[in-house]
Amino acid sequence: MLTSGGDAPGMNAAIRAVVRSGIDRGWEPIGVRRGYAGLMEKDFVPLATRDVGGIMQAGGTVLGSARSPEFETEQGRKKAVAGLEAGRIQAAVIIGGGGSQAGAFALSQMGFPVMGVASTIDNDLYGSETTIGVDTALNIALEAIDRLKVTASSHRRASLVEVMGRGCGYLALMAGIAGGAESIVIPEVATDPDRVAADVRSAYERGKPHALVVVAEGATYNAARLVRHFEEHRDTLGFDVRVTILGHVQRGGSPTFFDRLLATRLGAAAVECLARGEEGLLVGLFRGEVVTTPLCDVVAKKKTLDLSLLELARVLGR
Ligand code: F6P
Repeated sequence: MLTSGGDAPGMNAAIRAVVRSGIDRGWEPIGVRRGYAGLMEKDFVPLATRDVGGIMQAGGTVLGSARSPEFETEQGRKKAVAGLEAGRIQAAVIIGGGGSQAGAFALSQMGFPVMGVASTIDNDLYGSETTIGVDTALNIALEAIDRLKVTASSHRRASLVEVMGRGCGYLALMAGIAGGAESIVIPEVATDPDRVAADVRSAYERGKPHALVVVAEGATYNAARLVRHFEEHRDTLGFDVRVTILGHVQRGGSPTFFDRLLATRLGAAAVECLARGEEGLLVGLFRGEVVTTPLCDVVAKKKTLDLSLLELARVLGR
C-alpha cells in the first residue's frame, strides 16, 4: 500500500486497517514509502501488526507521501510496475485523491491489480460523498474561524479567511456555512469583489460587530486578489480587514472520530474487495455505506458541488 499526494488526516488509520485486515487473511502487507516516488525506487517496508500500533491518532502518514512528476510519464509507470514485480507484490492499495487515483487507474490499465481508497481534504473526488481528511480539515478551519471572529468583533473588523481545496470550493462552502460567514467565495461561482465588500458593509449596517469572508484558495478572487482589490478601493471601502491564509495548517491535525472510522472502513473494504477478486475500483462512502466505483469513472467524471448551499449560507449569514 502507499499514500500519495497531499497527506490527509486519517491516512494512518487506513494504513492500519489495510495491514491488519490483510494479516487476518494470511497476507504479507508491504508499505511503500513516499508514494509513487518510492514505488519507482522500490522503497518497500514489510508491515506487521505491531508496526501499525499507535498510529491511528496521528495526522499525516507514517509511510510518507510525495507528488511525483516522473510517475506521470510512461517510463515512470513502467518503472513502478517493474518495482512491484521485483518486490513480488500481488496487488496494490493506493490511498489518496484525484492525482493518486489517476495513477492507480494507469497501473490497473497496465494489468496490475489495484484498489483505490478515497483520501483528500479537498473532497473533490468522484466516487465518494466524503473523503478521508475532510472532516478534520473542516474542524481545524472552524476552530480558526471561531477564534478570528472573536478578535474581529473586538476591533469591529472584517476577517478574510482563505481555506485550501485546490480547484474545489467544498471546504470554503462548508466552513463558511458552519462558521456563519457573511460572504463565501468559491471557484464554482463567478465573484464580484464589490459584491463581497457590499456584503461586509451590510453586516455592519445590520448591527454585527464583525464580518467574516471565507475564500477558497482556487477562487479567481482568492485572498490575495480580494485584498488587492480592497486596497485599491480603500477610500470607499468603509471597513478594516485582516487576512488569514490557513494553508497547510488544515492538513496537519489529529484525525477526528469521523475520519478515523471512515479510513478504517475504507481500508478494510479495499482488502475485502481484493480478497473477492475485485480490482480497478475506488472504495468510497455513499449515504453512509461503503461503495465501489470503477477507477475509469473516478478519473473521467467530476464531482459536483451543491450550490443551493450557497443560497442557504446567504440567508443564514443575515
Ligand atoms: O490536495 C490537497 C491540497 O492540500 C490542496 O488543498 C492544496 O491546494 C494542495 O494540496 C497543496 O499541495 P502541496 O502540499 O503540494 O503544497
